[in-house]
Amino acid sequence: MNADNEMILSAENLSRTFASSERKGFFSKKRVFALKNVSLQIAPGEKIGLIGRSGSGKSTLIRCLAKLIEPDDGKIYFKGQEISTMSPGQFRPMRKQLQVIFQNNYSALNPGMRIRDMLRETARFGGFVENIETLLKAQMNKVSLSETLLNRFPRELSGGECRRIGVAMVDLIGPELLLADEPVTALDYINKWEMLSLFRKLNTEKGTALLFATHDLEAMIDFVGRVVVLFGGHLVEDLPIELLWEARHPHTVELVRYHGFLKDKFTETVLLSYNSENKESSLDSAAGGCIFARQCQRFRVMDFPSVCIEKQPELIKSGERHWVACHFGDKVIE
Ligand SMILES: Nc1ncnc2c1ncn2[C@@H]1O[C@H](COP(=O)(O)OP(=O)(O)O)[C@@H](O)[C@H]1O
Ligand SMILES: [Mg+2]
Repeated sequence: MNADNEMILSAENLSRTFASSERKGFFSKKRVFALKNVSLQIAPGEKIGLIGRSGSGKSTLIRCLAKLIEPDDGKIYFKGQEISTMSPGQFRPMRKQLQVIFQNNYSALNPGMRIRDMLRETARFGGFVENIETLLKAQMNKVSLSETLLNRFPRELSGGECRRIGVAMVDLIGPELLLADEPVTALDYINKWEMLSLFRKLNTEKGTALLFATHDLEAMIDFVGRVVVLFGGHLVEDLPIELLWEARHPHTVELVRYHGFLKDKFTETVLLSYNSENKESSLDSAAGGCIFARQCQRFRVMDFPSVCIEKQPELIKSGERHWVACHFGDKVIE
């Protein structure tokens, strides 16, 4: 058992590489880090936004935490029990409490089953035995879908409808933790806010903790209590939402500033330069200094401190519930 039993989920030093199509030598393919030494704890009922640019490792982290892929290294505890070493069979009884929802939720639905049968199965899995048909109709109502869709197959639904079915299913199960990978991305405005309100209900009615991966800061900002920022597979900052305007990692500041509607909230006025190159982390660049150094405004302003080139900064505590991985995280960016 893990010492920190109060956490619903606790991940320690997760790393995961993938083979890249690029070759290193004649035989071996180069391996690319998607996650590097990521540690994260989630308390019961917490709502966390997982942000980062495309390719920063959000989906890989969610897939590792949900046991859909194996990390190369590191440990994952769910309610104090180590799940990273469990076989799928051993983990099955816990699946009910740890659910996942995807942007493309169609792939998570069974193409050969009607929505009614899938929801019936889910209701039984959720422990319901009586009045199932009434329950399913109420569920469809809850997610603002017509009852007639119960007769359809997943391929006969739109992407947004598939996601609503996903929420209806998760709601029937009432998990303790929901990992949501871009759940509102590419939805129109009304659909997006309705989905967010469903997630909010799940959190308040069932106490479900949420880890919500998104690059849509606007969707996240009024919704979460805490933000975790990934860059190149590294967790660079972890802070309460109310401290977002006092972010200490240059990349967090950069991410927030690039959302025009948020820009003015910062007291500093310098707009950080953005280098769209170097998006991908590789073993070579990860081996040396700070993964962010090459595009870091602070690094430049401070006249290229050698520590940034030599050493990847560790995540250190910079305040109450505030963690940052920057050698100069105590310096204000201006
Ligand atoms: N199955 C895979 N095979 C090879 N590389 C992958 C695979 N999945 C992810 N990656 C790489 O890992 C990195 C992180 O990807 P991902 O977790 O999907 O990021 P995000 O969800 O933040 O966009 C990227 O560089 C991506 O190309
Ligand atoms: Mg992703």
